[in-house]
Amino acid sequence: MASPLLDWSPDSWRARPVAQSPSWPDAEHLTRVEGELAAKPPLVFAGEARRLREHLASVARGEAFLLQAGDCAESFAEGSADAIRDKLKVILQMAVVLTYAGGVPVVKVGRIAGQFAKPRSEDFEERGGVRLESFRGHIVNSDDFEPAARRPDPDRLLAAYHQSVATLNLLRAFTTGGFAALSRVHAWNQEFVANSLEGKRYAMIADEIERALQFMSACGIDLQDDAALQGVEFYTSHEALILPYEQALTRRDSLTGDWYDCSAHMLWIGDRTRQPEGAHVEFLRGVGNPLGLKVGPSTSVEDLRRLVAALNPDNVPGRLTLISRMGVSKIDDALPPLVEALRDDGAQVIWACDPMHGNTFRVVGGQKTRHFDDVLAETGRFFAIHQALGTWPGGLHVELTGDDVTECLGGGSRLDEDDLDLNYTSICDPRLNATQSLDLAFHVAEFLRHYASIRGARSL
Ligand code: PEP
Ligand code: CO
Repeated sequence: MASPLLDWSPDSWRARPVAQSPSWPDAEHLTRVEGELAAKPPLVFAGEARRLREHLASVARGEAFLLQAGDCAESFAEGSADAIRDKLKVILQMAVVLTYAGGVPVVKVGRIAGQFAKPRSEDFEERGGVRLESFRGHIVNSDDFEPAARRPDPDRLLAAYHQSVATLNLLRAFTTGGFAALSRVHAWNQEFVANSLEGKRYAMIADEIERALQFMSACGIDLQDDAALQGVEFYTSHEALILPYEQALTRRDSLTGDWYDCSAHMLWIGDRTRQPEGAHVEFLRGVGNPLGLKVGPSTSVEDLRRLVAALNPDNVPGRLTLISRMGVSKIDDALPPLVEALRDDGAQVIWACDPMHGNTFRVVGGQKTRHFDDVLAETGRFFAIHQALGTWPGGLHVELTGDDVTECLGGGSRLDEDDLDLNYTSICDPRLNATQSLDLAFHVAEFLRHYASIRGARSL
């Protein structure tokens, strides 16, 4: 970061109001755990976070696209190698579609290896006359509906750290150890996806990529020698909600002297914790990582300007990604004034679209869900708005899983309300399954192509 912050320290957030803070029953226990975490190795290095910032700078310039995707909430009960691999497969498939059919380089960031904390609209949950503290993610309490299970437990911070370490270790192996080599593009198409229309479309792209690789090889180009073909750069991110955890993993970079939150490459501030004077903004403004900020329909132009000034005072491209999550019925009113104001300010920000969180609803007496048509429609409006304003629709932020779940309605698999119970495994929000994710990626690739053709025509 350009200028040092003299009025910031890793604990300066403690003097501010902390929204969404769990009521930890034992303060001493929490302090002890914070000390243990502070003595542990970092999960990521400052240099990696800087490298991601550089990639994101090309997104901010309109030369690349950000794909940020993964679970709503990772689960302590589901950290298996297969689950991690399958999630990675879907993200790699989406990235291939966006790169090949959309024609742009894709920066890949997972909601993974640390996405354990959940902000909640209600502090309490009531079932059958019993009222308990809400589930706040496995880093805080358990999703079981039992009084003891819902009590916040600081030891869970350590468990979250250890699961993040294991997940990240496997991700590093998968992304650099051959699994993510472009020559394996067919292998990312899981069996249950391959039979769908989207899976078949993907296989056609994979065929073309394979032919192109054979062609290059026949021309004498050594493909084994090219790092970009042999693996992918994959980065981690999560919502920086539980600040004692984030502070404990914040370290001063020996190279630059700057502070980095070494729990992930990128951290974001949620829609419920973005108060300009609040603790979360205070904490994150001082770390050098690339930051995300969720921007919901209640965001005013004035608040957004204050937040951008606080989080990116030096106007560094790639530092700040604004993640619009308006909902399909609100985006047309809510987003354009914000984009226009920042465009006129010359603010170097990335705009990404989260078409999930503004479109959640509950089916009568049952599960939380989202309709694929709403997700797609909001994404389409996001692109149209940026096209009209001459700004770059820089990214997509989605909740997905590699499993064949039945949590979101519609899409290629045409799920309806009666199907939701078949395989609903999310511990928080409904996620796109692998087929729905691929379906969305094909549509976004078309939006990207359309945008490029309009942009090309304008610059002629
Ligand atoms: C989330 O990304 O899981 C989330 C809670 O989002 P938001 O803060 O936008 O509601
Ligand atoms: Co969510």
